[in-house]
Amino acid sequence: VRVIAIDGPAGSGKSTVGAAVADQTGLEVLDTGAMYRAVTLAALRSGTDLLDGTALGKLAASLRLSVGPRVLLDGEDVTHQIRSPEVGAAVSVVAAHAPVREVLVEQQRAWVEEHGGGVVEGRDIGTVVFPDAELKVYLTASPQARTHRRAGELGATGAEQLGAVAEGIAERDRLDSGRAVSPLQVAEDAHVIDSTALDLDEVVKEVLALL
Ligand code: CDP
Repeated sequence: VRVIAIDGPAGSGKSTVGAAVADQTGLEVLDTGAMYRAVTLAALRSGTDLLDGTALGKLAASLRLSVGPRVLLDGEDVTHQIRSPEVGAAVSVVAAHAPVREVLVEQQRAWVEEHGGGVVEGRDIGTVVFPDAELKVYLTASPQARTHRRAGELGATGAEQLGAVAEGIAERDRLDSGRAVSPLQVAEDAHVIDSTALDLDEVVKEVLALL
């Protein structure tokens, strides 16, 4: 099956680029970050200890997740809740646990089987989940550019709000890149695209040219 892997840090433009590439290829997109966020929301709601990997893995396995244009958690539409600052601040802690990743990676592979391939975006797609992907793109940009993009999406303005967004991104970068299990890293055969000085249309063109 045909898989296009798009990995990279927060605010690098994965979702925008992924959607455009899906549009052009007729593949569907899977946002694996939304899955980690939904598990994190469930953990916060149930008061599960965020340091207890075994409990979090069990929790993840007990949930019915559906990730598409809307994100459903046991049938409830949590599309907006999973983008809350609380979930953002906890998701990298939850995602660092191997039992959680095992459950979600299996679901990601099953999703691709069912959909006959896909554009899959995340942190470990080219390195761990689909090492044989047809195309691997690692999208990145300077922390400043990523902060401004994310702030724009959130409607954050002013020095204080911008500072909070920058801090959140820096903290997730640190946790995602530094964890022992499936850290964020560039796959050996990935094409690195630095979008600091590019607009997202130009990035999409570059990805389509690679394809
Ligand atoms: O959209 P944004 O770049 O803010 O992040 P996301 O894709 O929603 O992912 C949220 C978090 O989930 C990341 O910071 C990682 O901690 C985790 N994640 C992961 O560990 N592995 C993935 N394949 C995707 C996300």
